[in-house]
Formats: sequence, C-alpha cells, structure tokens
Amino acid sequence: MPEPHRGKSVVITGASAGLGAALARAFADAGAGLTLLARREDELGQVAEDCRARGAEVTTVIGDVTLVEDGRRLTECAVAAHGGIDCLIANAGMSMWAPFEEVTDLSLFRRLLEVNYLGAVHCVHPALAFLQQRQGLFVAISSIQGRLGVPNHTGYVAAKHALQGFCDTLRMEQASRGVQVLTVLLHWLRGTELRRNAFGADGEPMGDRRRGHSSESVSLEQACAAILGGVAKRERELVIPWKLRALTKLHGLRPSAAEAIVRRAVNKQDEKRE
Ligand SMILES: NC(=O)c1ccc[n+]([C@@H]2O[C@H](COP(=O)([O-])OP(=O)(O)OC[C@H]3O[C@@H](n4cnc5c(N)ncnc54)[C@H](OP(=O)(O)O)[C@@H]3O)[C@@H](O)[C@H]2O)c1
Repeated sequence: MPEPHRGKSVVITGASAGLGAALARAFADAGAGLTLLARREDELGQVAEDCRARGAEVTTVIGDVTLVEDGRRLTECAVAAHGGIDCLIANAGMSMWAPFEEVTDLSLFRRLLEVNYLGAVHCVHPALAFLQQRQGLFVAISSIQGRLGVPNHTGYVAAKHALQGFCDTLRMEQASRGVQVLTVLLHWLRGTELRRNAFGADGEPMGDRRRGHSSESVSLEQACAAILGGVAKRERELVIPWKLRALTKLHGLRPSAAEAIVRRAVNKQDEKRE
C-alpha cells in the first residue's frame, strides 16, 4: 500500500479549528510530521495533542498570518523541527455575510484581504527556498468564490480572487524550480467555524446570526480525502465536490445562467439559521 505522506513535513495554517484541524488529523494518520499555526493557543494545543496521539511529531506556532514576522517564524520552526518543508497549506481564512450596500464598517474589506490573501503570501514567501529543496507543494485553500461572484460576500470573493491570481502566477514562476502550486476550490463546508466568525455588515463576527448550510455542503471528511489525494498526485487544482466544476465551465460560457444558479443557492440560505 503506497504511503505518499509518510515522513513528509507538512505545514498548516489555521489549524486550530475546522478544515485546518481536520487536515492536521488526516495528515497525522497518514504518517506526516506537522507544523501547525493559529492564534488561539488552547485550541491549537488540543489539535496538536490529537495528532500526537495518532503518532505524529508536531510543532505548534502561535501566530497571526496577517503579520509578516509570523510567516517567517512559521518557516523557521518547521525547518528547525522537521529539517525542511514538503508541503505548505495556507488554510487560515475568514469570511463575511452582508450585501455590500448594507456594510457600515469598510475595514472588514482590508481584514479579509489580510487574512485570505496576504496571509498566504506572508507564509509562502519565506518557505519557497525550502519547498524548492524538496520539490515540494504549496496548497492554497480557496473557494469556488475564488472563481465566481457570490452575493453577500463581496470582500471575501475579492480576497479569494486575489489569492487565485497570485497562485496562478506563482505556479508559472515556480514550474522550472520544481515547486507545484495546488489551488483548492471548495463548496460550502459543514462542521467549521467559518460562518460563526464571518464578519457581518457592522464588521463584528456573525455569531448566532450566521446562516445555515444547504444540503449541497461538503463534509470535512470528504474535503480532507480529496485534498490528501490531490497533494499525493501533485494536482494543480481541485474543485470539491468535482461536479461544481460544471458551474465554473457554465460561467465561462453563459455567465448569467451560472449567476442565476448561484443566486438561487444563496437565497435558499439567506433566511436559514443553524
Ligand atoms: N467553511 C466553508 O464553507 C468554506 C468554504 C470554502 C472555503 N473555505 C476555506 O477553508 C479555509 C478554512 O476555513 P474553515 O471553514 O475551516 O474556518 P474556521 O473553522 O473558522 O477555521 C479558520 C481557521 O483559521 C484560523 N485563522 C483565522 N484568522 C487567522 C489569522 N489571522 N492568523 C492565523 N490563523 C487564523 C483560525 O484559528 P485562530 O482563530 O485560532 O487563529 C482557524 O483555525 C478558509 O480559507 C476558508 O476560506 C471554507
């Protein structure tokens, strides 16, 4: 049985909750050594303990991806603990839920860019030389919103589009250096804190005002299995679930038809509470 992740050094940002925590556990089960970053010490410590119980060597870094210095510290800790970096997963992210005309605190646009886009830039820049040494992989956890507009998410969509453009260009630059760039375009995920932490119109977390998920959402298990498979195969893009790819293709051919589908899906959730 091939074990493509055994003994690999995997770095994950935003690993204290949601998808990042689930990926950490899945890579631990697959035999990888881990360096995990997030801001909340207790939550990150708990995830690290779970991974150690699964047999993984784990280093934690309490840090904020919006800070250049913390991106540098992440690479230093990963290299000191694991001798290098095979795979860096920029997963830390925040979202929003508000029509643009109702936004009263415009600072949320800057904050969304800082976490979703600049956070990835800050972490991959210091890691690049080490990824080159091991012909490694940079994984950007994006969203289908990195390709398509989705109502109530202007700032998040813009930040994920910035991340997409950055990754598409970095992939071209790094092709001759042996580093692959994988962008992960996810549908809505169940079982994460993204919606609770999402900014509302006033720039405050949505908390209990958050919207529910439609039956179209993806489980963490499904997302992790697809991502670990994509990393093993050094894919350039994953759309999860794969059938969502049809929507991106429709958007290229008939944008108004694709937008009508997206609008209907969002309207179904707009009044729904979890
Ligand atoms: N949930 C969805 O429906 C969905 C859909 C498509 C794409 N995604 C993407 O999937 C990724 C993970 O989201 P999730 O759903 O798992 O959300 P989540 O449960 O809210 O987890 C977000 C993680 O990011 C960390 N984080 C947030 N800001 C940070 C910062 N400034 N510095 C360092 N870490 C930070 C959080 O930890 P701390 O608070 O401890 O720092 C947490 O570990 C995001 O990039 C998101 O855009 C999610």
